Amino acid sequence: MSTDGDVAKKKERDDPALDLALRPKEWAEYIGQDHVKKNLRVFIDAAKKRGEPLEHVLLSGPAGLGKTSLAHLVAREMNTNIRVTSGPAIERVGDLASILTNLMPGDILFIDEVHRLNKLIEEVLYPAMESRTLDIIIGKGPSARTIQIELPPFTLIAATTRAGLLSGPLRSRFGASYRLTFYTAEDLGTIVSRSARLLRTPIDADAIARIARSSRFTPRVANRLLKRCRDWAQVHGTGTITDETAQKMLALLEIDDLGLEPMDRRILDVVVTTFSGGPVGLQALAAATSEEEDTIVEVYEPYLMQLGFLERTPRGRVATERAYSHLGRSLPVQKPLIT
Ligand SMILES: Nc1ncnc2c1ncn2[C@@H]1O[C@H](COP(=O)(O)OP(=O)(O)OP(=O)(O)O)[C@@H](O)[C@H]1O
Ligand SMILES: [Mg+2]
Repeated sequence: MSTDGDVAKKKERDDPALDLALRPKEWAEYIGQDHVKKNLRVFIDAAKKRGEPLEHVLLSGPAGLGKTSLAHLVAREMNTNIRVTSGPAIERVGDLASILTNLMPGDILFIDEVHRLNKLIEEVLYPAMESRTLDIIIGKGPSARTIQIELPPFTLIAATTRAGLLSGPLRSRFGASYRLTFYTAEDLGTIVSRSARLLRTPIDADAIARIARSSRFTPRVANRLLKRCRDWAQVHGTGTITDETAQKMLALLEIDDLGLEPMDRRILDVVVTTFSGGPVGLQALAAATSEEEDTIVEVYEPYLMQLGFLERTPRGRVATERAYSHLGRSLPVQKPLIT
């Protein structure tokens, strides 16, 4: 696995300033994910009524679906400060100790990419989450002793794109765990039109629908495509994003009608051509596509699986019949396929 914590998201996070500018600032501006929002609402209101901090929350789901945005909104709803860090940023136990001891009562600590937290640090986090104590070992060998520091009441909100990599003990210490799912084209349409308004860019309804359809069911991608279309409209058109503008820009970006990008098609092509439809292991797939394993798992595969083009089996990745027909290939004879 890569040691670069952000590797899988580099591709998607090409514009952090845009992410920040378009991030929903109000609870009502957070579109979709109704199930998660409803549950969180009860969770928040109950904690507020009791005058207690929220229990620890785990948010999981593919990149760019709104985990960070939601964590900020929860802090806003609870009227508390949010301190932001990430798994790879906490390198030593001392880093975590300093973060925790600097929290104010009721603060929210947001740990992004929590699955990349070092195991030693995870073990220090357990008692902090459970009984708000920090056990620090001072010295080495027989003279080592543990001192216990009491922490202020706080809420940990952790986010991960890889919930499956979390250890059982860590997972069990969250009071609530929510999984964000891919957005509907309708919700994405609402997000695109809100973003266009914020960017002060006029956009036609057909263009909204086209961008929504091509966004891998993911708000961050929708916003990125919208911005690229705005560039095109400003350079080649009247400034208004029409359906024709969107169509031309998407063609330039080599994004097809299903929102597949060149690397998606390359992955499918490698599975189908080089590995005769699979099963193929992740390592081999990464080598053959010259792409990072983490990026394949966190960015490309979730969407290809959502479309029903790829299946993960215990023996490796397998291309489905749908993938063959999308690529315009005929199925190999005698090969048992998942459909
Ligand atoms: N429900 C939503 N409504 C409106 N916009 C959204 C929503 N969710 C996400 N967005 C937009 O998508 C962008 C990416 O969301 P965010 O950074 O919260 O995703 P994430 O799940 O934390 O991604 P990552 O896994 O890469 O950290 C935000 O800046 C925001 O503009
Ligand atoms: Mg995030």
